[in-house]
Formats: sequence, structure tokens, C-alpha cells
Amino acid sequence: MKKRKLILDVDTGTDDAIALMAAILSPEFEVIGVTTVAGNLPLPQTTANTLRVVGLLAPEIPVVRGCAGPLVRDLDPRRKYCDNEESIIDENGDCIAFHVEEFDMLPPASIRERETNAVCWLVETLKSSRERITLVLVGPQTNFAAALRADPSIVEHVEQIVIMGGGFEERNSSSAAEFNFFMDPEAAQIVLGCGADIILIPLDATHHAVLSAGDVAEMRSWNTLVGSFVAQITEERIKAYNTFQPLFKPDSASMHDALCIIYLLDPSVITKSQRGHVEIAFGGGASDGQSVLDRRSCAQPANCLVCLSTDDEKFSRTLLTILKRAK
Ligand code: RIB
Ligand code: CA
Repeated sequence: MKKRKLILDVDTGTDDAIALMAAILSPEFEVIGVTTVAGNLPLPQTTANTLRVVGLLAPEIPVVRGCAGPLVRDLDPRRKYCDNEESIIDENGDCIAFHVEEFDMLPPASIRERETNAVCWLVETLKSSRERITLVLVGPQTNFAAALRADPSIVEHVEQIVIMGGGFEERNSSSAAEFNFFMDPEAAQIVLGCGADIILIPLDATHHAVLSAGDVAEMRSWNTLVGSFVAQITEERIKAYNTFQPLFKPDSASMHDALCIIYLLDPSVITKSQRGHVEIAFGGGASDGQSVLDRRSCAQPANCLVCLSTDDEKFSRTLLTILKRAK
């Protein structure tokens, strides 16, 4: 079976960790490398968390540190940051949050990051690859946007780009925007305009890519480190979703980034999609980071396939089958 070459760009975070595990545990893929970016946590933490996950399952895969912040967004102090609570201390004194600071449930990292920056590594790796590479971008798209600015010709070496980002009827970081696009709107606009074959997987799809309390119990029953780790972070994400953003299924949590991997394995997990022209609002104001789909009959040429709903049973069944492989 010919393996599909992947590069994952992550802001590891708990759902990024599950996407990384699913990619590494799928024989259909050859993970060429993982680049890290600031997002869910500052860059040192997203990189440290990524090193723990990759070191545990595939220490031969390069991990390369990327950008510590957005391209230009934070140059303007007037641009707002997330206007919603992302963590609170509950009545028992426990922290309820979508992401933990450190994956201390996993062994300390057995590998170190490469001595180069993700922007240079992306340009060199793409241009030297004999086969085209699929990019899976599941954090703010700062690294790949900067790489495109450095050498636009790298897009000729890209097979496809799968992006977790945006939201059309669903949002999270503000009344208009999804987190990855909100954190670096200019980067998202640059990537969406690069001309590659882009699959956009927004919150409209990922809010139905969930694991439930029943899945937590099943993963615990495996008695494996991966099963226990994913069960624990899923349980914490369920608490966070119940507290901050209850989903369609009670006691469930979205595993946003993992849907990108499941899509690559089985596109039928997406039950509704349409090609369209998506552009990003930037420059501040209430719509900063908003993803806008041009629905006019005179719309501009499509720049991506927008995924709008998910078969939640197929998602969770496929993801658990993959994660159960880890011994
Ligand atoms: O909005 C969800 C996205 O933002 C996910 O990629 C999550 O990991 C965070 O990066
Ligand atoms: Ca992410």
C-alpha cells in the first residue's frame, strides 16, 4: 500500500495530540514531520507537548519549532483577544479547561526538537521531496503562511492542504470567529489564497466530531497508556464543553483536529460539503478572524471545499479503532 506523506502543523493542545496519535497510528500515512506553533498554549508548551506525543509513538519523526506568535495581529493593541472564558476553577478547586498546560500523564519527551525553524524546514522539506506532501494544519496557520511568503513555489510540492479552522454557523473565540483563524487571520487569508487543493474543516463539521462519556469508559477498558491518556483528556474536554459550550450530544467533547485525519482516511465521514470561495476578515473589529463564504451566484472562484457536517458515529468509531492499536 502506498503511504500518503503528511506534515502536521500543530498547537498541541489536547485535540491536536489526538490528531497526532491518529496520524502516527495509521499505516496509510508516512508522517514526514511535525511543526509546532503558538496557539492553544505558548510555543514552548505546544512544542513540549508535541515532543511527548511523538516521542512516545514515533521518536524517528522530526519535530520542528515554528512561530511564537501571529504574523502581524498583535502589532495592533486594539485588536481584541478571546472574549470568552477558556478556563475556570470549579467549586471543588479543580481547573476546567479545554487544554492542559503539560502532558504529564505521558512519559517525559524522549526526543528533542530539530535545530532549525519550522518556516525554513517547511520550505526545504517541500522543495526537496520527490513526491508531493499533504499538509494538515490544525493551529493558527502562521508557519505555512510565512513559508509561502518566503518561497511561494513550495505550493507546487503540496498534494493537498487539510485545515481545521473557521466557522460559518458555529464559532468559539468570538461572536464571529473560530480560534485558529482568530489567532492569525492574515495567515489564514494567505494560506486560503495559495492556490493549493484545500479542504476546510470548520467548527460546523468539528462540533459533530465528538467523543462521549461512553467512549471514555471504553478507552479506559483497554488498559493502555494511549487509551488512559485520551480518556483523561476527553473527560476534561467534556467538562469544559458542558461548562462553556454544550454540544448537540450531552456529555460529549469535540475532537476538532482529529477530524482532519479521519477525513483523509475516509472522506465519507463528512456528510455535507460544498466548494466555495472563503475569505477571512482581518484588521480588527467585531468580525476579526471571521471566515466568510461567498454564497452569491456571482461568487469568486472557489478556493476550497468547505465541510459542513459530520457522521458522528463513523467519526468516533473510526477514531477509537485507530487509537486502540497502541499497545
Ligand atoms: O477552534 C478549534 C481549534 O483551535 C483546534 O485546532 C484547537 O486545537 C484549537 O487550536
Ligand atoms: Ca489545534
